[in-house]
Amino acid sequence: MIRLLMKGGALPAGEEFFAPRLVAAARGGVCRVLLSGAADTGLAALVLRALGAAGVRPQIVLADRCATTLEQNRRFAAQIGARFELHHGDLAGLDCAPVDAVVMHSVLHFIPPEARASVVASWARVLRPGGELMGFQRLSGAARSRDPAGIAISAAGLEAAALAYGFDPAEAAQIRLAGAAFWAARLTHAPSDPDAFRGLLARAGFDLMEIVTPDAAQTGSPVHLAGQSGPGPQSLFAARRRGLDQPAPG
Ligand SMILES: C[S@@+](CC[C@H](N)C(=O)[O-])C[C@H]1O[C@@H](n2cnc3c(N)ncnc32)[C@H](O)[C@@H]1O
Repeated sequence: MIRLLMKGGALPAGEEFFAPRLVAAARGGVCRVLLSGAADTGLAALVLRALGAAGVRPQIVLADRCATTLEQNRRFAAQIGARFELHHGDLAGLDCAPVDAVVMHSVLHFIPPEARASVVASWARVLRPGGELMGFQRLSGAARSRDPAGIAISAAGLEAAALAYGFDPAEAAQIRLAGAAFWAARLTHAPSDPDAFRGLLARAGFDLMEIVTPDAAQTGSPVHLAGQSGPGPQSLFAARRRGLDQPAPG
């Protein structure tokens, strides 16, 4: 709702980075992609657009602990005549048939540091050898703290956007309250720094192929408060799952 009302429906950042890598991960004109954490339908829309533009048939597998996210994506898939494979639960416990690519978008800092290795291990478990892990993640800074005044301003903006969209005043007020509660919730932890992140990937059996931190990554994420401090440096990365016969270097 926040993405639609306040971000003009913007998709999550990084489409230009992800698109060629998703296409390259396809085999036989099909790419089976795991979205490891989603939030809403933005990430699925990004992957469908990237693969569709190259004529690759997408198979979306989506894992999230949030039942609302899964229901939103189930309805989105039905609306476009598709069917997503949905898995409800903690990412660390995911088990599914092998995928060609895993996309992780701003999820790792939701996982407590001590649990991150088991989530990264779940990506290695479900990704076929040679498959691609790619993502968008903040790799510096502390856990976000929220300024109550900033939350109030953003919540008022959300209510105004809801009214302008045509929601009645009672619904718009509910949307403001839900937005304020969402922004106030302390859901995240300090992100892994780049060295810790490289180590996590290497130990799980990934070769990090690329990591870039654009000066000003756009973000369509509903998490960021409108008009408040920016999202901070965000990195895009791509890693390849080592073959079973390829030991970790060094
Ligand atoms: C911030 S959202 C990702 C938003 C995305 N970057 C975007 O712009 O669309 C994080 C998602 O990860 C999910 N998540 C966080 N920790 C999880 C866990 N341990 N297991 C399953 N899902 C988790 C949350 O439910 C949420 O849907």
